[in-house]
Parts: sequence; structure tokens; C-alpha cells
Amino acid sequence: MKDTMDFLNNKTGNFVPEVAIVLGSGLGELADEFCDMAIPYSEIPNFIKSGVHGHKGRLVFAKIDGKNIVMMQGRNHYYEGHSMQEITYPIKVFKELGVKTIILTNAAGAVNETFKPADLMIITDHINHMGSNPLIGPNDEHFGERFPDMSEVYKKDLVELAKKCAKELKIDIQTGVYWANSGPSYETPAEINMIRQLGGDAVGMSTVPEAIVANYCGLNVLGISCITNAASSANGNKLSHEEVIEAANNAKVKFKSLILNILKNL
Ligand code: HPA
Repeated sequence: MKDTMDFLNNKTGNFVPEVAIVLGSGLGELADEFCDMAIPYSEIPNFIKSGVHGHKGRLVFAKIDGKNIVMMQGRNHYYEGHSMQEITYPIKVFKELGVKTIILTNAAGAVNETFKPADLMIITDHINHMGSNPLIGPNDEHFGERFPDMSEVYKKDLVELAKKCAKELKIDIQTGVYWANSGPSYETPAEINMIRQLGGDAVGMSTVPEAIVANYCGLNVLGISCITNAASSANGNKLSHEEVIEAANNAKVKFKSLILNILKNL
């Protein structure tokens, strides 16, 4: 951590970000538009490179509306073979940099039958079905306690703020529970049925490890899913990564304006 912090503080001139944003598949454009400094993960000590198509893999620092922001343009995933600890390391770095609030975004499949592609869903809670937990292993009390409370990971006031910001922009907004699978295979129809019956509204392969670590570190978490598809063959069609990226692209204008409005009102 000291190597990472020394490197970043040296590069950025001790930039202290107040808000961190993790930009999911197809949602990275915000970091192209607002970029004072970009550092590829490959240059940062102890970061792993991003390997997924449609993800860039760099840390972007910017001032937006007078607020200091750090963005992850692209994230690493558990299904790539990295450990839970490796993929959540940047969250601990954000905590060390001084971040107070983190906005986690992702592309997700709809489970709730009222959701349509390109809808945005504010995450109210999650179900961790990834089969692991990033806090497994020795606990470093510097970051948080051994058995962290999880009763309000996604802060209710942030959920309300995001809803209000969407309303101001006349963006229809959904709310719901994000279900995380490890992936990389998408879900079978039987799995989607199960997820629906167990309380999931959207399903994806990210965000939950980051939310667990952010909550553990005492960061305020807001989560936003971009619904990119009806989950697995609900409509009899096959699901592809291209379809997911295309739908995220269709949502990116409203996604970007929502994020900017939230930053303004934080
Ligand atoms: N399932 C899992 N992850 C996803 C999906 C999906 O349908 N769409 C985008 N990410």
C-alpha cells in the first residue's frame, strides 16, 4: 500500500479525491470527457491490468463541479482469475487517498420483468452469490473490523438523492436488488427463475466485492446498474457481450447526466 500511495501521491501532486466512481462496461466515457490526469493500471504498483474488451484499465483524476474525483475506467473481475482481494485492492487505495463516497456502476441483466434494456437501476441492496468474499483472510484493523455490519451497504440517503437527481432530469429510474454471480457464463433460464424467486432484480458479475470492501472501510456506497438485456434467453434470443455493450452505449447519455447531477448534489 505504501508503494501504491507514494507512486500516486507523487504523480498527482497529492490530489485528494472526495468521490470515487467505478465505471462499468460501456459506461467509461465520463472518464474520457473529464480527465485531468490518467494513469494506466499497468503503471501503478500492485494494481492488476484490466483485460476485458470494452474496459480501458486506467485511473482517471478530474475536478468536476469543483469536486475532486477519481474514476476507475474499467475494472478487474473475479472471472478473469484474479483473487477477490486483488480486484478490491483499489477500493482500499481510495480509502487511503481520502475518498468518502464511492459510486459503483455496472452493466447488468434484467431479472425483474418490468425492466427494459437501457433502464438505469439504483441498487438498494445486493445478494452475494459469487461463492467467495473479499474479506476472507487475516483482517487488517486499519481498514475495518473482522465482522462488518452489512445492514445498509447502499446508503438510503444516497439512494434517495440519486432518485431525486433522476427525477430532476426526467429520467425514469428503477430501484432494486443486485444479484452477483461469478460469471463468466451468463445465467440459464432456470437460474434466472431462481434469482427472481430469491429476490434479485438484476444480475451481474461485479460490484458486490467492491461494495463489501467499501462498506468495510467506512465509505458511503451508491450503486447504479445499467440494464443491458433481459437476463438469459428470456425472449428466446441468445445473449452476447456485444449486445450488453450496445445497450450500455444506448444508455450512456442519460447515465452520464445522472452521474453529473448526483456529483453536483452530493
Ligand atoms: N448476466 C450477468 N451479467 C451481465 C448480464 C447478464 O445478463 N448482462 C450484463 N452483465
